[in-house]
Amino acid sequence: MQKIEPIVWKDSYKLGNSFIDDKHKKLIETVNLLVDCLNNEQQHESFFSIYHRLAFYAESHFMEEEHFFQQNHCPNISEHKKSHGKFIAQLIQFQKLYEQQREEIYPELFMYMKNWIENHILIYDKCMIDNMNKSSCI
Ligand SMILES: [Fe+2]
Repeated sequence: MQKIEPIVWKDSYKLGNSFIDDKHKKLIETVNLLVDCLNNEQQHESFFSIYHRLAFYAESHFMEEEHFFQQNHCPNISEHKKSHGKFIAQLIQFQKLYEQQREEIYPELFMYMKNWIENHILIYDKCMIDNMNKSSCI
């Protein structure tokens, strides 16, 4: 199987809010556990245990983030929620592809996840943090 590139945390992902920044680091770490598992061709049991950990972590992080931004009266929460929904939909799709052993698609799929994480943090989450700090928001 073609090796999958892990996602590398960059300082530019820091939004200056340690509560959110720590969660994003953890999200990337958890995606990378799945990357390691696939790159090392580990057992299905390991895959599903990490996959479920990631799905649970992503879902609870998104809910927590939505609640946090709601409490801080940020606008456009519904757009933000839609973007979170796309990531969850992608994870569900990934489980189906894994069960069908569509290994050739994994690198592309993780590239999508990487791009999603980068764009989501730097556009949606940044916008919310900026808004909380009373800067302009798109
Ligand atoms: Fe978010």
